Amino acid sequence: MRVSYFHTPERVPHGSMADAAVVIDVLRATSTMAWALHNGAEAVQAFADLDALSAAAAAWPQELCIRAGERGGAKLEGFDLGNSPLAVTAEFVAGKRIFMSTTNGTRSLDRVSTAAMLFTAALVNRSAVAKRLCQQNPETVWIVGSGWEGDYSLEDSLAAGALADALLQIGATSLKKFAANDELSASHALWSQWKTNPEQALRLASHGQRLERLGDHDADFACCAAVDSLVVVPQQTEMGVLRAT
Ligand code: MLT
Repeated sequence: MRVSYFHTPERVPHGSMADAAVVIDVLRATSTMAWALHNGAEAVQAFADLDALSAAAAAWPQELCIRAGERGGAKLEGFDLGNSPLAVTAEFVAGKRIFMSTTNGTRSLDRVSTAAMLFTAALVNRSAVAKRLCQQNPETVWIVGSGWEGDYSLEDSLAAGALADALLQIGATSLKKFAANDELSASHALWSQWKTNPEQALRLASHGQRLERLGDHDADFACCAAVDSLVVVPQQTEMGVLRAT
């Protein structure tokens, strides 16, 4: 297995595709997706475009439909949910499809949607995703961070390193053998720096500071920093649709 990390969807190479892709948006899209699917949502359907989301949601049975929309960290007006992992409770989401669009996370998913295997990961489920990758053993894996509007993000890089660390532990190989680019090795070093206090890194990150400025996100930070709290593996089962697998 050869694993690369790309900080943003813009950094993903054109003209080829890995055997498996893993999209990360720790704050907070892929943390929220993991919690929604853990809590029994039928699926999360991701949209980069809000008009496409509205059209698909309108065509779905309304009693089974939840619209989740976030821009700039805030819930979009007229949507049922924003992007908090705490809001996707079993009571609210079980059996329902979540039609979701976020500032960056859903754009990353769009970029690698043609990969034969597509997973999402966050700190909350990084070992579960690493285990699945080791079971499937794809030759090439691209981990794709979501960043912020095209720029690097600390928290996604941290989680890429956490995933790499779990792959190392489960696969009993060496970083030198599986790291296919320097970004992956650097992300692993970041994880070594913060693995005893990942929440500190999330709060230091520029998007973490944005959420702090918006206020009332302490529980979101604690939830998104809870490493391996879930065993769910969100996987794309049809274009743009993620299910618990
Ligand atoms: C994103 O997609 O950029 C994020 O998940 C933003 C957030 O809601 O924190």
